[in-house]
Amino acid sequence: MASITLDKLVKQFAGQTVLQSLSLHVPDGAFFTLLGPSGCGKTTLLRCIAGFHEPDAGRILFDRDDVTTTPAHRRDIGMVFQDYALFPDKSAFDNVAYGLRARGVRGDEMRRRVGDALDKVGLHALASRLPAQMSGGQRQRVALARALVIRPRVLLMDEPLSNLDAKMRLQMRDVILDLVREANITTVFVTHDQEEALAMSDQIALMERGAVAQLGSPEALYATPDNAYVADFIGSANVLPVTVTSVDAGGRLRYRFAGCEFDGTPGDGVDRGEARLIARPEELSLTAASPSVANGIEGKVLRRQYLGAKTAYRIAIADAAELRVELPSGHAAGGIQTGAQVQVLIPERSRVVAA
Ligand SMILES: Nc1ncnc2c1ncn2[C@@H]1O[C@H](COP(=O)(O)OP(=O)(O)O)[C@@H](O)[C@H]1O
Ligand SMILES: [Mg+2]
Repeated sequence: MASITLDKLVKQFAGQTVLQSLSLHVPDGAFFTLLGPSGCGKTTLLRCIAGFHEPDAGRILFDRDDVTTTPAHRRDIGMVFQDYALFPDKSAFDNVAYGLRARGVRGDEMRRRVGDALDKVGLHALASRLPAQMSGGQRQRVALARALVIRPRVLLMDEPLSNLDAKMRLQMRDVILDLVREANITTVFVTHDQEEALAMSDQIALMERGAVAQLGSPEALYATPDNAYVADFIGSANVLPVTVTSVDAGGRLRYRFAGCEFDGTPGDGVDRGEARLIARPEELSLTAASPSVANGIEGKVLRRQYLGAKTAYRIAIADAAELRVELPSGHAAGGIQTGAQVQVLIPERSRVVAA
């Protein structure tokens, strides 16, 4: 086990800067996720940590050991790839045994450790199968057993669930979490799937074009996004242009939106002038159109969509803005139908961030 520190990493390919002086700390034993859209540099970053790429500048530390120039095979990492990368001509047993044999572990100890690792991923009975004779989920379990059997200091996983069908993907979340929790191993997990990241991680670094857009717990990223990019990538949000009219030191803020004044909560660095309101659909609520209420704005229900546990409303506001509101089904406002005039309440806790 080890913490991982990335200090101002830069990586370029043919003049294109893919990692832009990126710094991060992954605490010892954490399940840490690199999240972001395709092409933002997740794999490049993971491969730098693994030692498959050498950064052009910056340092990588495992605990206090500087491993920046240490070759991959001496970094003591376990790696799991999206496409499994198993040896096609080796059985599940021999795939898992590979790293142990390479480290000189032989005989009974080797057989015991491989057996244990296959047990833990529920594949004992399939030890002699070749990869081609296993399902995608089973192959990914072999890959996981192979990565963990060597008891690496850190486990690196690059979109390990992306090639699995939806049901297996959910099952494998638990398999992975159970194993890494038991081994108490520092894990860096790459995904482009925000729901997967929220469900699995202790901490998430949301990346944008080779930099960290925001780092925090799943709850923090969801509840207090620093900017519209984060709010939009994690969950869904109404992001609307507003004008901040005052910000005071006590953490209160007033803004104008569609000709009305509202109280809001300031995000980091927001100032008077152009800004963005970030309102999650479930933090808004609806009431009758009159009388008008503080922090309310009039609108018309364009569509009411019953979704089972919740009901979603698309509300048109003056000057062509639209808000999405979600209420638990059975809420007092549940009788509101398409076409109704309503007031949308934007709570004071809704955040206004820099544009
Ligand atoms: N070996 C490489 N040579 C040239 N460009 C690369 C190489 N690997 C990645 N890139 C480029 O770096 C950027 C980030 O890629 P990558 O790290 O794979 O993103 P992600 O894993 O987030 O989808 C992309 O623009 C990609 O084309
Ligand atoms: Mg990738």
